[in-house]
Amino acid sequence: MKATALPRAPFLIMSGTANHALAEEVAKHLEVSLCAVTHRRFADGELFVKVDENVRGRDVFIIQPTNPPAENILELLLMMDAAKRASAARITAVIPYFGYARQDRKDQPRVAISAKLMANLVSLEADRVLAIDFHQHQLQGFFDLPVDHLYAAPVFVNYYRQKTFKDLVVVASDVGAAKMARGFAKRLDASLAIIDKRRTAANEAEAVNVVGDVEGRDCLIPDDMIDTGGTMTEAVYALKRLGAEKIYIGATHALLSGPAAQRLSEAPVEEVAVTNTIEIPPERRFDKLKVLSIAPLLAKAIGYTHSDLSVSSLFD
Ligand code: R5P
Repeated sequence: MKATALPRAPFLIMSGTANHALAEEVAKHLEVSLCAVTHRRFADGELFVKVDENVRGRDVFIIQPTNPPAENILELLLMMDAAKRASAARITAVIPYFGYARQDRKDQPRVAISAKLMANLVSLEADRVLAIDFHQHQLQGFFDLPVDHLYAAPVFVNYYRQKTFKDLVVVASDVGAAKMARGFAKRLDASLAIIDKRRTAANEAEAVNVVGDVEGRDCLIPDDMIDTGGTMTEAVYALKRLGAEKIYIGATHALLSGPAAQRLSEAPVEEVAVTNTIEIPPERRFDKLKVLSIAPLLAKAIGYTHSDLSVSSLFD
């Protein structure tokens, strides 16, 4: 009997509960519906996940940022486990924001390396990882899996190219952000300045010195994340003291914890552009906040990954 070639099973997109709106948007770009999944809790709060469709032999992409609460990472693990036990052919953990990444080395006695621990946990269940702007690029090596690490920079650069700036300077908020800032400066045909930041304690930042000329010029400060907004607001005030004109902030991951919204609202900044890698609840939003969507980039990356096409074109 002649064998009939079966059509290749299409991919499936699943969403955790951490950023359902982003997953919906990605699915819309890919012209598919999200796979049906039940998320429930036992009376004591324990998470329950059930995949409500047949995933046997399918290429499954599970979208879930792992910002706090820590249940977000747990939910991702449960969803991957459910898909694997339901015989999915391949599981890609799509982690738009990879949380617990800041603790990436033993820089004081008796501390955990949470970034490695989280990578180990994800590696237990995933076949691949697709992520955006890790806190450090070398986190890719923490996973013993193929990792596609995307940059949100093209999304920001396209956005900023539509604005008119006065003699733009891209400012690195600390020495660690210099490489990212240099990339922005090159693409936006701007010059570069660097803030020499001294940190007195975790989540407390103090801008000390600015290397570069900012007087009478517009400034753009790019970073991977805004947590409490301390780093950014210190940078803004330091630039203003040196005579900077309009100041723009661009950061991929909008954690916007604690005082961030108030600090940034009060700071002399024109606009704070972020992406939707993390769901931003209404109480963390403020007038100057502009949210750019990362969904088209993620959708392309998922489509290319499914079709075994190179995703490196998405880096430009
Ligand atoms: C620093 O290494 C990071 O790139 C961010 O600048 C920092 O984590 C932001 O934290 P916060 O907003 O609390 O200053």
